[in-house]
Amino acid sequence: MSARTKLVDSLRARIQTGGPMPFEEFMAACLYDPDGGFFTTGPLRSVQEGDFLTSPEISPWFGRMLARFVRTERSLAEPRYRVVEVGAGSGSLIRPLMEELGREGYDYHAVEVSPATRDALTGLLGEGHVHASLDTFPERFDGVVIANELLDNMPVALAIRSGDGWVERWVGSSGDRFGLVTVAPRPEVVAWCDAYAGPVPEGGMVEAQLEATRWVADALSRIGRGALVAIDYGGTAEELESRRTQGTLRTYRSHHLGPDPLTEPGATDVTVDVDFTAMVAAAKSTGAAVELLRQDDFLAALGLRDIVRDLRRNELDLARSGDAMARLIVRSEMTNAETLLHPRGLGDFRVLVARKRAGEGTAE
Ligand SMILES: C[S@@+](CC[C@H](N)C(=O)[O-])C[C@H]1O[C@@H](n2cnc3c(N)ncnc32)[C@H](O)[C@@H]1O
Repeated sequence: MSARTKLVDSLRARIQTGGPMPFEEFMAACLYDPDGGFFTTGPLRSVQEGDFLTSPEISPWFGRMLARFVRTERSLAEPRYRVVEVGAGSGSLIRPLMEELGREGYDYHAVEVSPATRDALTGLLGEGHVHASLDTFPERFDGVVIANELLDNMPVALAIRSGDGWVERWVGSSGDRFGLVTVAPRPEVVAWCDAYAGPVPEGGMVEAQLEATRWVADALSRIGRGALVAIDYGGTAEELESRRTQGTLRTYRSHHLGPDPLTEPGATDVTVDVDFTAMVAAAKSTGAAVELLRQDDFLAALGLRDIVRDLRRNELDLARSGDAMARLIVRSEMTNAETLLHPRGLGDFRVLVARKRAGEGTAE
């Protein structure tokens, strides 16, 4: 029996025994079930031959720019500084970051749910530096935690606007098929939607991102002196307003939008637009100082436009010198770096920067 069939059977059995399940439990199984989850089994997803391409997969300049960020954040008073990447995938972000910063004075760690990916990352970072979650970290450490395209994959509850309130959609099954059923909303879902959904039309769908909200607060509560940088697609509650009629829940497979999330559990990425209003609030609740930026502005402030300009100059010099091969290589490096800044593409991603300083209290 294939891993996916086993996952579908076990989801169906759970529903037959216990009744419909909250959507976040279904989504968690689709992505992270140890035997059939999209991220926990099968090949690496965030690469050219995989299911989606991310900023660090497109250009090593993404990791190099984050190295500049880390260098600026670290003060000389911090002799040992942790640099942690959560959801590190192929290592395409942390590798150029490490090359840029060097090993001296930095302690690199990666967190990954995918066992195969953890093994590959151990080759890069060494034993004891690759973890399944932040739970194995010290309660407090100084350093920077980076998460690129992690929050959009954190399981969500589904809520529908109904009059002045909400109903929830859970997952039921009928025969061979899974379907959404309407249930009374749980108080925590109502509280999240009331606080962070923004304006939603009657019947419009909101993904209540309770797990991502908790994760942001938990990651920051572990940082003594340092910062969390979380980069993802999405926007503030107001910016997401136009997407609330249908909601933003969707699947990806082989670089294209995939089928309805209920039809092929474990076979597709399941993702939502991150509600950064909620993430900013979670970060502030820990006493952090928070900024929300666009990726193009964040990278430009770190000098990426100057890098692109230098690469363009270099390309022109090579064109004049007649070295066609070297010119092509530099041109491709320049084009890829520019892609990170595209105002309607990756440049439109949001960057949450939340800084903690020693002595700042938590307000959980
Ligand atoms: C969209 S990919 C991004 C990979 C990489 N950050 C990049 O930008 O190329 C999401 C990655 O996060 C991992 N992941 C998802 N949820 C996670 C979690 N709760 N903790 C750690 N890793 C997680 C997945 O296995 C996957 O490798």
